[in-house]
Amino acid sequence: MAAAQDDGATGAVMDIDDAPAATVTEKRAKHPLEPLDGAEIAAAAAILTRIYAASEPLRFERLEIKEPAKDVVARWRPGVALDREVRFVVFRPGRIGVIQGVLSLDQGKIIEATELPEARPMIMLEEFLEIEQVVKSDPAFIAACKRRGIEDMELVCVDPWSAGNFGVPGEEGRRLSHTFAWVRNGEFDNFYAHPIEGLNAVVDVDTLEMLRLDDYYEGKEPLPIPRAESNYEAQFFKDFKPAGKPLDIVQPEGASFTVDGTRLGWLGWDVRVGFNSREGLILHDIGYTENGRRRPICWRASLTEMVVPYGSPQHAHHRKNVFDIGEYGLGKLANSLKLGCDCLGAIHYMDAWVNGIDGTPVRIENAICIHEEDFGIGWKHWDFRTERTEIRRQRRLVVSSISTVGNYEYASYWYLYQTGMIEFEMKATGIVNTVACKPGEPGKHGVEVAPGVVGQIHQHLFCARLDMVVDGPANTVVECNAKAPPIGPENPMGNVFFEEQTVLATESAAKRRFDPSTMRYWKVVNPSVTNAVGKPTGYKLEPTHTVTPFTDPEGPSGSRAGFIYNHLWVTPFAEDERYPAGEFVNHSAPGLGLPAWTAADRAIENTDIVLWHVFGLHHPVRPEDFPVQNCVTCGFKLLPTGFFDQNPIIDLEPGRNKASCCV
Ligand code: NI
Repeated sequence: MAAAQDDGATGAVMDIDDAPAATVTEKRAKHPLEPLDGAEIAAAAAILTRIYAASEPLRFERLEIKEPAKDVVARWRPGVALDREVRFVVFRPGRIGVIQGVLSLDQGKIIEATELPEARPMIMLEEFLEIEQVVKSDPAFIAACKRRGIEDMELVCVDPWSAGNFGVPGEEGRRLSHTFAWVRNGEFDNFYAHPIEGLNAVVDVDTLEMLRLDDYYEGKEPLPIPRAESNYEAQFFKDFKPAGKPLDIVQPEGASFTVDGTRLGWLGWDVRVGFNSREGLILHDIGYTENGRRRPICWRASLTEMVVPYGSPQHAHHRKNVFDIGEYGLGKLANSLKLGCDCLGAIHYMDAWVNGIDGTPVRIENAICIHEEDFGIGWKHWDFRTERTEIRRQRRLVVSSISTVGNYEYASYWYLYQTGMIEFEMKATGIVNTVACKPGEPGKHGVEVAPGVVGQIHQHLFCARLDMVVDGPANTVVECNAKAPPIGPENPMGNVFFEEQTVLATESAAKRRFDPSTMRYWKVVNPSVTNAVGKPTGYKLEPTHTVTPFTDPEGPSGSRAGFIYNHLWVTPFAEDERYPAGEFVNHSAPGLGLPAWTAADRAIENTDIVLWHVFGLHHPVRPEDFPVQNCVTCGFKLLPTGFFDQNPIIDLEPGRNKASCCV
C-alpha cells in the first residue's frame, strides 16, 4: 500500500495555466471529497496571488477543498471530470480583515469572494516564533526579566496565546496575542517547570509591535521563579523503570483493511479519509455493507471546535480561554507520526497537505495513522447444561492523528467496530499550563504539581459535528429518557421503569443537556426505513463524557463559546454552518455559530440534519499530570440501535489466535 497523496509541487507557486497536463488529468480523476494535494494548493495560491497580490502583499490562512453537496458526490463516477473548487481565506499583512471565498482550480478564477473587514484570521504557526521574538527583544520585557533574575534571554520562552475579546482599551480593532512566559534552566530543560508569573505582553500579530507589557509585580518584589528541574526527556534520566518484555503486535498476513486513494475498506465498513488545516482528520461517507447492500450512516464526522477555559481570577489568567481549533487549527499543527512509537502493528500512513502563511504547500508526512486492533471478546456464552461454549473475539479499525497546540497534545482516534459501533476518543496529553505560586500556597484555583508550580483548574470542551445519513439523508432525532412512575396503580411494586421517547422537532427543542437522572441519550432514526420488527432504523449517540461548563455564559469568554452550554444541538444541514463558535473565532464577538443559527428555530424532523455533540474533560490538575501528563481520554459512541435486525457479528467466522501461548 502506497501513500495516498501524490508528490505535488512542493514549494513551487504554479500558475494553473502552466500546470502540466498530467497534473490536471490526475486532478480530475480525484474523488470529489479528496483533500487538496500540494499541486492544488500551489495552483490555488497562484490564482489568488495573481488576483489579489498585484498591489499589496497577501497572506494565506486556509486553502481547502470545497466539498461538493451529497447529491453531487452521489452522482459522481470514477474518471468523470468534476471541477475542483477551493475554499480560501486570505488576509493582508499589517491589518485585520480577511477575504473569504471560493475559487475554481479548473477555470483558474475566483467564483465568489467577500471582504470581511472585522474578521481576524487564526494565529498562524509561522507567527508563533515571530510573536515570541517581538516580546523577547522588547527592552521593557528584558528589564522585567532582569528584575526576576533572568540574564540570558535566549532561555526565556513566550507562548503566543490568543487574546480573546475583553474590551480592554487600546486593544480594539487589532489581531492580538496575549502572552505568558517561562524560562529554561538549560537548552533542553522543561521550561514549564519555571513559570514567570504576572508578566504578560500584548502583541499586535499583524504589525508585530508589543502594545503593552502587564507586569503585575511592578513596583513590588516579583514572585520568585521556581527553579527546581522537572524534566521528561530520556536524556535527563539515569535509571529507568523496566518497560517489560517485548509485546509485539504480529500480523503475518498484513492488515485486513484496503486503501484505494483516500478510500478505506475494512470488514464491511467503508469510509473516505479527509483532512483540512482547521479540523485535521475528517471521516467522510461512512457506510456499512451487508449481504451486498451498502447502507450510509454518517456523511461527515469531525471535531469542529474546542475551547479550554481556565478558572483562576488571578492576574491575567482569566484570558486563558483558547479555542484550539478555531484560533489555531488542529490540521496545521498535526504531527508526523512515528512507527513503533505513535503507532503499533501493521500501519498504513497517509500524508496531509496544508498551506503555509505564504501559500506554499506544506506536506505533513504520516499525518494520519490507520491500523487495526484486537478489542477483546465480542461475545460469549457458556450453556451450563450442554457445557458448550461459543465465543468470538472482535477487533476495531483505528484512524488517528495527533496535534500539538503549544503545551498540549490532542490525539484524535476514530474507531470502527465489527459490531457496527463508531467511536471517537480524544486522548489529551502533553504538559499542563503552569503558573508560579509561593511554595505551599497554590490558592483554591489550582493544585501545586511541584514546589511553587501550580496547575490551574480548567476544562477541555470539544464539539463534534456529525452530519448523519442513517439509511439516507432524511433523519429524525429522538430523545430517550428512562422514567419511573411513583408507587401507585401504574407501579404497585415500585419496580416499574421504562423508556420514554420524544421526537426533537425543532432546533430550540433540540438544545439538550445530558441528564444522568434519566439516563438520557439521543438516537438518529430514519422514519422511512424499518427493521425486522417494523421500527425505524437508527443509531444512538451515547454521551459518555459530557461536562458541566463553569464559565459564565454572560462573561467575555463564555459569551463567545455559546456552544458549550448544551451537550446536543441539532441543525438542518446548511453548507456554511461548519464551526459551532463561528467561522472566525479569533477575537470573535459574542453569540456566533450555533446560538445565532438556531435562533431561527428551524424544523429538523425527517430532513437532512447535523448533530453537534459537546463533550470533554474536566481537569482539576493532579501532581501526576506533571512534568508531562499521561493520556486522559474522553469521547462518545455511535451505536447501531435497530439498524441491524440482530447482532451483526452473530455469524462472525469462529477461530482462535494461534500466536497465543501459556507461560
Ligand atoms: Ni487539561
